[in-house]
Amino acid sequence: MSKKRLLTGLQSSGDLHIGNYFGALKPFVEQYEMYDSMLMVADYHALTSVKEPAILRQNIINVVKDYLAVGIDPNKAVIFQQSTVLEHMELAWIFDCLVTVPFLMQGHAYKDKVAKGLEANAGLFTYPVLMAADILLYNTDVVPVGEDQRQHIEYAREAATKFNNAFGNAFTLPEELILKSTGVVPGIDGQKMSKSYKNIVPLFGSKEEVAKAVMSIVTDSSGDRPEHVYAIHKLFKNETEIEALYTEHAGKYKALKEALIEDIEATIAPMREQRAHISDDDVKKVLEEGGEKARAQAEKKMIDIRQRVGVTL
Ligand code: ADP
Ligand code: TRP
Repeated sequence: MSKKRLLTGLQSSGDLHIGNYFGALKPFVEQYEMYDSMLMVADYHALTSVKEPAILRQNIINVVKDYLAVGIDPNKAVIFQQSTVLEHMELAWIFDCLVTVPFLMQGHAYKDKVAKGLEANAGLFTYPVLMAADILLYNTDVVPVGEDQRQHIEYAREAATKFNNAFGNAFTLPEELILKSTGVVPGIDGQKMSKSYKNIVPLFGSKEEVAKAVMSIVTDSSGDRPEHVYAIHKLFKNETEIEALYTEHAGKYKALKEALIEDIEATIAPMREQRAHISDDDVKKVLEEGGEKARAQAEKKMIDIRQRVGVTL
């Protein structure tokens, strides 16, 4: 029996944060050895927001270091860079010709990002279509993502269904894997934590950087529990411990924030230590090997897809 395919990706649009960790990376780490797993750096998705080549380049390296630091073994998962497998863009175009504009206009992520002042470029609008291609190209069964990505997995199923109806059953319908316990992790402003909103608690910042971010989490002045601090804190501690802590320090926001800083540090410090030993060359080697494996699969899949749509003579 061959294993099912697990695939996820994170954009190389900035430093990864604890929302990325609990929403996508931790579930991936916990599950990936049971599957035939792939982990992508969504660098062409990042181009929707990053327009500085030196920064994009550095972000790609950093994201892969983060993947390795959280414990993903490149011998057990294919780690690769989206832009190095051209078939993603080719398949996205085919889906562009099947998925409708009104359907894309319902995209929450697109609407939220534009409402927050991000440029409404066409890439941002068709973002879910490229993501559908990322997923479907590898016959993915399961996609671990954060709650905010639920709709994007629906888009992938829509693209697969539209294609299968038009050209015969070529694509597996993927399922999302979303941890209820994580939810949408709030940023320091109380909105969804996101690389593109400058409201993050960095995953691998120094203790000082983490402390600075935690100390600036917005708190309302009513009630005993600073709700956003609590929402983040419960990711790092079990229910009994957290209840005891928040009862003991009811109303003492500063003490609770200080406790959160220590708890983040206790979880992250060992991984940060690991990360310091990973070189840029290590990353390049991982991406080279991963890219080769991903391309072999993507090339094979696209031969069938091109035949089906009728461009192969
Ligand atoms: P960002 O919004 O920070 O740019 P990405 O879009 O690259 O993050 O998301 C990468 C993964 O991290 C996705 O699976 C996404 O659902 C998850 N994720 C991002 N932000 C959060 C959050 N605030 N809470 C939970 N999961 C999140
Ligand atoms: N859109 C995802 C996000 O913003 C990142 C992503 C790109 C992705 N391609 C993917 C996630 C494929 C899972 C599978 O979070």
